[in-house]
Amino acid sequence: MNSGDICKLDGHVIRVLYNEQQIADRVRVLAQEIAARDFEKLLVVSILKGSFIFAADLLRSLYKYGVRLEMDFMMLASYGSNLESSGQIQILRDIESSVRDRPVILVDDILESGRTIAFAKDLIVARGAAEVSLCVFLDKPGKRAVNINADFLGFNTPDLFVVGYGMDMSHSFRELPYVGVVET
Ligand code: IMP
Ligand code: MG
Repeated sequence: MNSGDICKLDGHVIRVLYNEQQIADRVRVLAQEIAARDFEKLLVVSILKGSFIFAADLLRSLYKYGVRLEMDFMMLASYGSNLESSGQIQILRDIESSVRDRPVILVDDILESGRTIAFAKDLIVARGAAEVSLCVFLDKPGKRAVNINADFLGFNTPDLFVVGYGMDMSHSFRELPYVGVVET
């Protein structure tokens, strides 16, 4: 599967944006950037559901670069349509770990308006984390509503609806090993 290839799945046309190799190369570089920071007592929080594959790949790459860490999960939902998040964020599942006085990396799939990750960051800061960094797989800066940026970023992506590598459209396509743009 190469960038630009077309896949027809369930009546949709999906164009490959980043293939498996491009993703793996980028994740490795991100892991090196994080490893270079020498975080101590690091807690990595994957924001579900969209980041689960990215987080899993990132963790295993971090291990290869010698990073020791703890992992936790937070599931957030934003009210609104399926294609765009609203201002209202709800915690569906909270982390169990204490964040007090330790560095935390929040891992998410896409930074778009920024509301979801800003909510999570504010919450973790309020609970006393020593430092909160944002590691985001894709940045779509075109629709930003909150002044927030990723500290560790996979790709800058055009304002198109993407699926795969954990990301869905109406609960489908999370399992695609590549990132694709839904054309129709
Ligand atoms: P925001 O930054 O609060 O606007 O929310 C970003 C979230 O919206 C992401 O974590 C995704 O769950 C979802 N999202 C935004 N754009 C896309 C997309 O292109 N495909 C799939 N989900 C998306
Ligand atoms: Mg999400």
